[in-house]
Formats: sequence, structure tokens, C-alpha cells
Amino acid sequence: MVQSSRRMSFHDLLPPQQSMLDEVLASLGQPQKELSPKFFYDARGCELFEAICSLSEYYPTRAELSIMRKYAGAMARMLGRDCTLIEIGCGNSEKTRALLKELEPRVFVAVDIAQAQLEASCNALADSFPHMRVVAVRADFAHEFNLPAAELGNGRRVLYFPGSTIGNFTPSEARGFLARWAPLLGPGGGALIGVDLKKDPAVLNAAYNDAQGVTAEFNLNVLRNINHELNADFDLIAFRHNARYSAAEGRIEMHLESLRAQRVTLAGRVLEFRAGETIHTENSYKYDLAEFTALAQTVGFEARANWTDDDRLFSVHYFTLP
Ligand code: AVJ
Repeated sequence: MVQSSRRMSFHDLLPPQQSMLDEVLASLGQPQKELSPKFFYDARGCELFEAICSLSEYYPTRAELSIMRKYAGAMARMLGRDCTLIEIGCGNSEKTRALLKELEPRVFVAVDIAQAQLEASCNALADSFPHMRVVAVRADFAHEFNLPAAELGNGRRVLYFPGSTIGNFTPSEARGFLARWAPLLGPGGGALIGVDLKKDPAVLNAAYNDAQGVTAEFNLNVLRNINHELNADFDLIAFRHNARYSAAEGRIEMHLESLRAQRVTLAGRVLEFRAGETIHTENSYKYDLAEFTALAQTVGFEARANWTDDDRLFSVHYFTLP
């Protein structure tokens, strides 16, 4: 589907419903049941994530925004004005605004899975930046998809992947993701990536176990979304939010724990849960500056710069391709 106006176009590249059912059945059919974090982001999930971003315990959004506000000018000089900026997982567009004000790209491409949020933020950005062409792409960026090449212009291509969303991937998945983007960005292309830093586990655990229980609601909302999209009957009060930092893995793991032995029906199939059994719903990897730099270098990206906030909670890295 393509809808176009003068300065904005919309491409829906999301695979049909059947593939969501197949994917969910396969991931809930494994010995350690799993659900991809992309299923968090229905309309309610997007709202809950916005609420998480303003929690006092959840430092990443504030820390990253402070980096962007402080260093957007320096970043813009490195990225080069008039580039084509491709943002993955657009979420909170405040960070993007800070960058766009300095960068003034000719073309801005936003890729996200959440349609309503994607359209709203693209419309708002098109209004604020009248000289910029906006291309909205609804896609699952964990898998391969075709960028609308004809609309990208011929500026340098720079990937912008903020929010530490790359932390949802395992390091090996993150390398695969960057390796897939390298040919799309081309020689001389760039990548500006927000990455959460390793820190005191107490700070990490608090950020994913907020006192108000918003993160718990966000986690449980994935079951509501599956109920709605795939005609399932998960009982939300029979599962509990569980998030903790594993220093060995360098990641926060989020799970939903079944409070009792129970059966759940999903699209006519029966899923069995033991008491205490969990569904693994998210990984959120944390990296040292050197660790993430090394990760990107293994797939051919060259480190140009990195920036951190005053408390060294969060980092933004800039890489280019030879
Ligand atoms: C959007 C993936 C960056 O990992 O911190 C927030 C999502 N999960 N609280 C993160 C999230 C629980 C967030 N990312």
C-alpha cells in the first residue's frame, strides 16, 4: 500500500496476519516460551511505553535526550547536512527533533511497526520541517524488508537507530542487523546508534521494576494484544511481571510468569503452562563503549565518535562504512 502527498508518503510493508499467528505459535511452542518484544507495541503498548519514558526510575530516555540536545550540532557536522536520514523504531520523536533541527536532511525515512504512532509522528515532523521529504515505512525491522529505493534521493544514507532498541537483539542478532544494513547504506554511509550502558545492577533493576507498576502493565499488555489479534484467552491476572539484570549475560531479561498451572487457547490450539513457567518477552542488552564499538567493527563499520551524558548512563555512537 502506498499513499502519497507532496512531501509525505506511506508504505505498509508489514506481512499479513497469518505470519503473526505462525510466529507466535512457533515462539510459544519452544521449551522456553518466548514472544518477540515487537508485539508490545499496539496502541495501548505505545502509550504505556511513553509513560515508562517519563518514570523517574527509567533513565534511558532522559539521558539520551540530554545527549542529543547537547551534541546535535556536532553530530550534524559529522553526518553531513543534506543526507538521507533513515530512522528505525521512531518512538519518542523529541530526540529526532533535536537532530533534525541541526541536520536539516533532504529526506527523512521513518521505519516502525506501530502504524498510528508512525503516521502521527511523521505528520508532525513534516509540518515542523517544511523543506524535508518524509517517507513513512511500516515494517518489522527485525526481518528483511525492501526500502522504497526510488524515494530515498541520492544523498548520503545515514541510519539513525535511537533508544537502545538495538539492545533488544542479542549481540549476534545485532551484528546480523548491522550487516544487513551495510549494503543498503552503501560506501560512505553512516550509522548513529543509541546504546544503553552497563551500570550498577540496582539502577538497572529499578528501571525495569518501577514502583508504579507501569513496566509490569507494559509487559502484561503483550498478552492483551495477543488475545485481541489472535483470538486467545490469556488471563492477565494469572501472570506476573518479572524483570532482572543478568550480569553474566549483560542484559535485562523480562518474563511473564504463570502464577498457576493453566491452559490457554490460541487460535483453536491449547497451550499448557506449569506453575512458575515463564514466557520470555524481552532482552535489553547493556554495553560498555568499547564492547559496542567492537561489535560494529566486526561487521565492517568504522568508529567515528561516541557521546555520553554527564552521568555516563547512555551512549550514542557514530560509525561510517568504508
Ligand atoms: C524500547 C527496547 C529500548 O529495553 O529499555 C522499557 C523497552 N522495556 N521498559 C528497553 C522497555 C521495558 C526499551 N526499549
